[in-house]
Amino acid sequence: MSMSPIPKTAPFAEEEIDLLNRVVGTASPVQRAWLAGFLAGLDASGAALVPAHPAGPARPAEPLTIVYASESGNSEKLAGDLAKAARKNGLKPTLIDMADLELSALTAAKRLVVIAATWGEGEPPARATRAYNELIGEGAPRLDGVEFGVLALGDTAYAEFCAIGKKIDERLAALGGKRVADRVDCDLDYAEPAARWIGDAVKALAPPNAGRVIEVDFGAKPAAAPSTDIFEAEITEHVDLNSSRSDKETIHLALSFEGGAPAYEPGDSLDLYPENDPAYVDELLKIAGLEGDEKLRTEFTKSRDVTTLSLKTVETYASSTGHQYVKALLDQGQAREWIAGRQLIDLIATFPIALDADKLRALTRPLAPRAYSIASSRREVGDEAHLLISAVRYESQGRARKGVASNYVAEGLKRGGHVRVKLKPNKHFALPATDKDVIMVGPGTGVAPFRAFVQERRATEARGRSWLFFGDRTFTHDFLYQLDWQDALKDGSLTRMDVAFSRDTPEKVYVQHKLWERRADLIQWLEGGAYFYVCGDAKAMAKDVRAALVRAYADVKGLSPEAAEQAVVTLEREKRYLQDTY
Ligand SMILES: Cc1cc2nc3c(=O)[nH]c(=O)nc-3n(C[C@H](O)[C@H](O)[C@H](O)COP(=O)(O)OP(=O)(O)OC[C@H]3O[C@@H](n4cnc5c(N)ncnc54)[C@H](O)[C@@H]3O)c2cc1C
Ligand SMILES: Cc1cc2nc3c(=O)[nH]c(=O)nc-3n(C[C@H](O)[C@H](O)[C@H](O)COP(=O)(O)O)c2cc1C
Repeated sequence: MSMSPIPKTAPFAEEEIDLLNRVVGTASPVQRAWLAGFLAGLDASGAALVPAHPAGPARPAEPLTIVYASESGNSEKLAGDLAKAARKNGLKPTLIDMADLELSALTAAKRLVVIAATWGEGEPPARATRAYNELIGEGAPRLDGVEFGVLALGDTAYAEFCAIGKKIDERLAALGGKRVADRVDCDLDYAEPAARWIGDAVKALAPPNAGRVIEVDFGAKPAAAPSTDIFEAEITEHVDLNSSRSDKETIHLALSFEGGAPAYEPGDSLDLYPENDPAYVDELLKIAGLEGDEKLRTEFTKSRDVTTLSLKTVETYASSTGHQYVKALLDQGQAREWIAGRQLIDLIATFPIALDADKLRALTRPLAPRAYSIASSRREVGDEAHLLISAVRYESQGRARKGVASNYVAEGLKRGGHVRVKLKPNKHFALPATDKDVIMVGPGTGVAPFRAFVQERRATEARGRSWLFFGDRTFTHDFLYQLDWQDALKDGSLTRMDVAFSRDTPEKVYVQHKLWERRADLIQWLEGGAYFYVCGDAKAMAKDVRAALVRAYADVKGLSPEAAEQAVVTLEREKRYLQDTY
């Protein structure tokens, strides 16, 4: 029997190949199977190979399929944490992005965990849509006896809280799956509940006599705890890119990092840690009768979400205060409707009752950071990062409202000030090889990552062509980064640009109309291998753009609506249709 299973051509140094052969060559089939599973799981979880890693049982591990439906990476990260914990408990995890899921992988699974986020208004993450629809659809296969558990990620601020996790959980049971771990629905501060759920689920799914089970101490440092690499950046530019006559305010923010910018790539975002508007906090405390509590004022300004009003908030208010009218609102099923367009301050103003600091604090959750696409390339701006932030302002229920983070930036910060940020990488929205063509659709602040793309393509002297579709309200007052695009068109880092200004003409023109106008060239670019990127508004724009592309395929290539839809699905499967929408 040959004792050298690792060939000389393996990507290791000669002495490493000898070493590997000394171990693997004499290993039993069971030991080899264990090693193969161990290494596959390690890779899948992104963990580093630590020599001192405790050894698992010397027999083949039991398989565990982990599917994640993720848009901004939280569920994906948790899936990696779960894989790590599973491996330590005698399981052999396989990680699958729902974007790549074939349902046959579920029927073949013995044990299954799904970690799913909810997006839009109760929708699946964009790239998980196809597989999700197949799973929910009538053609889904039976999953009799598959042991499963679902972890749902969401945000209680949305009416359809964790809707996708809930639906997947119900669906897996309806298809015959055996729920062995009860679903947990996580809010934005998901780290601890998710880590606890992972610990419990792994225990429930682990084979009964897994041999050596290593306890994971989630209490000390949750596996899912957000990394602490928050950077304090100095604001070196704070400029409103709209003209003074625009009804919008969009801030270009240049941040500079002492000791080096975080290692971001075009397509990544920064999480920005805001503070609340002091005037709002003052008013809230006054209405609650707690205006004298300075400690609470500081805490509310800096670290609590004091604006969001969710069903959970109303329920907590009813139970902690016993307010009869609030109870009635819940009992009569009217609370959901009442919440729409209202904030915490409206609840307390409309249904006043004696409150103490603890009761008021219990109505709030930790203040979450907001994501902003990075609008620069490190290759061009060095140790800076640029953001493009639109101030959210509107009126509802007779009150002027301000978005927390965007107004913290627009009104609360200025040049020379500081802000805390954390890198939020997005490998699903990255530039392709430099010889590939790219089509970028980014109206409003959706254009931000494309400024990074264009800078990067300039710095890398990319040969591929770049085509930008931009839109906003008016040419004169709202043409964000107009000079940058003009320069880029001149130096060739941008090949082509189409603009749609919706309020310049009697009939509103949006980017999707420009795509339709340019459909012949557009399809030609895509047929030639171009990548298609969409960034910005998820509610209407992203859907309209996709629909326009389907119609463009049908028209230009003479396809039926079904075949045209299939052409776009193919682009999505090939990861040439990429979205970062919000
Ligand atoms: C990956 C990603 C990238 C992003 N990139 C950018 C970017 O580059 N630039 C950018 O400006 N933003 C970007 N955003 C959006 C950004 O994260 C924030 O959501 C946005 O700035 C609003 O935050 P805020 O704290 O100001 O508002 P919040 O205090 O969070 O308030 C927003 C909430 O107010 C309510 N609301 C808003 N408008 C209305 C209205 N007209 N009527 C009734 N209710 C309303 C809604 O409930 C909404 O959820 C991105 C988001 C994601 C997820
Ligand atoms: C634009 C947007 C829409 C969202 N819509 C919902 C929703 O309808 N229901 C919900 O529970 N959570 C919603 N969320 C919250 C996300 O589910 C939550 O941020 C989650 O942690 C994201 O996980 P992911 O990074 O794996 O995509 C939304 C978040 C954003 C930014």
